[in-house]
Amino acid sequence: MTASTELDRLCAELGLAEVPASWRATWNLTATFDDDMPVLDPSWVAAAGQAIGLEAEATRALGDAASELAQRPGLIRLMRHCHHELFVAREPAPGSWPTLPGTSAADRLFHALVLLSGWPRLERRHRARGIPSDITRATLADFAMRLREHQRKHGQWGLDAHGWLSRHFRDRIYQLGRLQFETAGAEKTVHVYQDDDGEVALLAAPGSAFRADGLLASAFAGDAPVAFTAALSIDAVRIVGHPFDRDGLVRAEPIVLDARRWRCVLRPGDPVLAVHITAYGPMDDAACSASFAQALDFFPKHVPEHPFAAFTCVSWLMDGQLARWLPADGNIVRFLRRYHLFPIEGADATQHFERIFGGAVDLATAPQATQLQRVLVAHLRAGGRWHRGGGLILRGG
Ligand SMILES: CC(C)(COP(=O)(O)OP(=O)(O)OC[C@H]1O[C@@H](n2cnc3c(N)ncnc32)[C@H](O)[C@@H]1OP(=O)(O)O)[C@@H](O)C(=O)NCCC(=O)NCCS
Repeated sequence: MTASTELDRLCAELGLAEVPASWRATWNLTATFDDDMPVLDPSWVAAAGQAIGLEAEATRALGDAASELAQRPGLIRLMRHCHHELFVAREPAPGSWPTLPGTSAADRLFHALVLLSGWPRLERRHRARGIPSDITRATLADFAMRLREHQRKHGQWGLDAHGWLSRHFRDRIYQLGRLQFETAGAEKTVHVYQDDDGEVALLAAPGSAFRADGLLASAFAGDAPVAFTAALSIDAVRIVGHPFDRDGLVRAEPIVLDARRWRCVLRPGDPVLAVHITAYGPMDDAACSASFAQALDFFPKHVPEHPFAAFTCVSWLMDGQLARWLPADGNIVRFLRRYHLFPIEGADATQHFERIFGGAVDLATAPQATQLQRVLVAHLRAGGRWHRGGGLILRGG
């Protein structure tokens, strides 16, 4: 049987509407892939759940799903393939991996078990790096949180965030105190310069198209025309480019830097640490400072192959307008003000709504329980728009 025929039959059997196109080429590689799959054994799942600090109820649900999965050859075949893609071939994050339409425990927790199947490799990698086991457990607490979130939302154990969590299980993200840090490449929209006195200037990447409001042309699904396209010219004497203002919006008027005093310290794709904030309650300013300090110590020691030049954050939290609506001494504004802001591709307010209301809401009936919920609505009612943005802190300060 050819690889595609077997894959097509499996898709039909499992009710999968679509699989990633790349699987047509890689499917036959895993036909004979015979990695040890202890995750099919519920007693192994119980021990792994305990090792990573999962709550007992979640571990039991995963164990039940594993028992069921072990009786379903089609799902086992799919699991071998997913495991190989994630942990052996290390293909890109599976944001678009198919969700199983079935409703049994094995269907709902299939991706969670695929992730857990990577635990032995992750544990070996972390120990080889000398990473303390409490950091491994803290990092995987996000897995526990997402499982619990699904249970709370749908009344059943399951997992939606497998693409995101594949970063944790593939040794790309670490929870260091309040914040998470991910090894990543710098955003393609910005070039960063620094002068002899340590002053920093962010300049728009050449060729980036901007709207009149200072956002990239792709913001809000491109609902405004392109106002200008950024240029960046550099010679022995002058660097001429378009800077971003305090709110992270581009200025059409270029600035000129003295090339003898300013040097480029970050280009698109250079190694950075992307900062993420989990929903573990408030993000106290002192706790954030401690996390950044911990990252400066941790990465050179444990992940030396990633000589990051900056911390970056792409988030609704990097919307400079928040600083006009929320108190300057609040956690959100203090966090925002640590960064130099810049615009990102495809910026819109979707994430604001997701993180503040749990999804899209009608403004007339949106909950108004917190200050942030109130200002989100007030700004929109006043004719404003919220947009996600990017932020950057150079490693040296
Ligand atoms: C990021 C986060 C930790 C900030 O919370 P915080 O430390 O409480 O922030 P602040 O103290 O500045 O909050 C100011 C006000 O906004 C409210 N607020 C903060 N985050 C809120 C949220 N996600 N939803 C609703 N209200 C929120 C606070 O309750 C406070 O209002 P109050 O005084 O009426 O209680 C929080 O928003 C959160 O957990 N978000 C989910 C995770 C997330 O968005 N991560 C970034 C992903 S890109």
